[in-house]
Amino acid sequence: MSGRGSSPKLALLGGTPVRGKAWPQWPARDAEEEEALITALRDGDWGGFPLPNERSATFAAAFAERHDCKHALCVANGTVSLEVALQAMGVESGAEVIVPAYTFEATASAALFAGCVPLFADIDPDTWCIDVESAAALITERTQAIVPVHLAMTVADLDAIGSLAGKHGLAVLEDCAHAHGARWRDRGVGSWGDAGSFSFQSSKLMTAGEGGIVTTSDDATLDRLHALVNCGRQRPSAAEAVPVIGHNYRMTDLQATILEVQLGRLDRQHEIRARNAGRLGAAIEDINGLVNLRIDDRVTTQAIYQFVFRFDSEAFAGLDRDTFVAALAAEGVPADGRFYESLPVSELLRPDPARYPAWSEALARRPAADCPNAERAAYRESVWLPHQLLLGTEADVDDIVEAMLKVQRSAGDLAGLQTAEVERLRQARSAR
Ligand SMILES: Cc1ncc(COP(=O)(O)O)c(C=O)c1O
Repeated sequence: MSGRGSSPKLALLGGTPVRGKAWPQWPARDAEEEEALITALRDGDWGGFPLPNERSATFAAAFAERHDCKHALCVANGTVSLEVALQAMGVESGAEVIVPAYTFEATASAALFAGCVPLFADIDPDTWCIDVESAAALITERTQAIVPVHLAMTVADLDAIGSLAGKHGLAVLEDCAHAHGARWRDRGVGSWGDAGSFSFQSSKLMTAGEGGIVTTSDDATLDRLHALVNCGRQRPSAAEAVPVIGHNYRMTDLQATILEVQLGRLDRQHEIRARNAGRLGAAIEDINGLVNLRIDDRVTTQAIYQFVFRFDSEAFAGLDRDTFVAALAAEGVPADGRFYESLPVSELLRPDPARYPAWSEALARRPAADCPNAERAAYRESVWLPHQLLLGTEADVDDIVEAMLKVQRSAGDLAGLQTAEVERLRQARSAR
């Protein structure tokens, strides 16, 4: 372990960090991407038009098969994929759509872009995915869809969501932006709802820098998707015309070329991450004040986009979560605390009554405090570690654990520091 000889003084206070070495690089890439890109470049057929272009069609077919879906359509990113999926599933303008309060803002903003009204359900306190009872309490005659997010390293309870949706006639859109290749009861995520949405943004488990994809097994949904992402043009084999004004949300074939290579690596990376996550999770079990998220037994293949755990300040001399994260990062372990906000109070999602009157009214009817689990996760408990930290060796995992233990041993040295002082120390460290 590279940290064994390190000074007990916390790196945030000027000590030697546990970890000085670089972590595995992300995006992972090698000669395969280079060769594939050069071939595509020489070919001259770079774009997404005609839709689907050859490479994106090949990649989408492989991605659909990997997730047990009949179809997939590549799009520009994982925000527009949510937007067009809602529309293609038949969710009407003005309809209410239930989303979890703890997720990336795009899960909710995409519903707004589709003309809908997103309402926030709280999350399960142990899995941090949508709490189905909280979602059920939001259903009105205006509700048409529910959007579970498979958060970070787990899968939302697709059985309970399916039953709820079936009972109330709701469409289900799975937000799988974190969950490429994950399986629930040995069937791919993105195949349980009416559609699934994935992101290929640069931090994600597969990436082309940007990009997204929608999965579905419904032919009519695919026909509508085609028109929506291709300026209203009809899918050549569409059963009937889809009269919509569509965007240009096409993905380029250069991106699809990279993604085909990345899909080929996914299973091997899953194995490495799962093995290292097992080691890290076992170590966390033994650290007072750190708690693993509960992973449901029905998650038969786990995709780990970020390793997430819960932090309890009492076991760390009363340090708040953000100070713990700053201290961990100073020890050389990239970590984030406020990775996501609680969306009802997010600064990126301020309701603008002039532009979104129905949404603003709906939010006013429901106090933000109705999502206490999301608040606690966002502002007090959550610690997020990027997945590439788990793409290396057991010794890398041991460095993460040693950094956590070091911060715990010396937590008293940071107790009582004000937020501004922690920020000053953090900046001073990163300027070195
Ligand atoms: C849960 C979730 N949904 C949607 C998105 C939007 O994806 P993109 O950044 O590709 O637009 C992201 C990622 O950034 C995400 O994490």
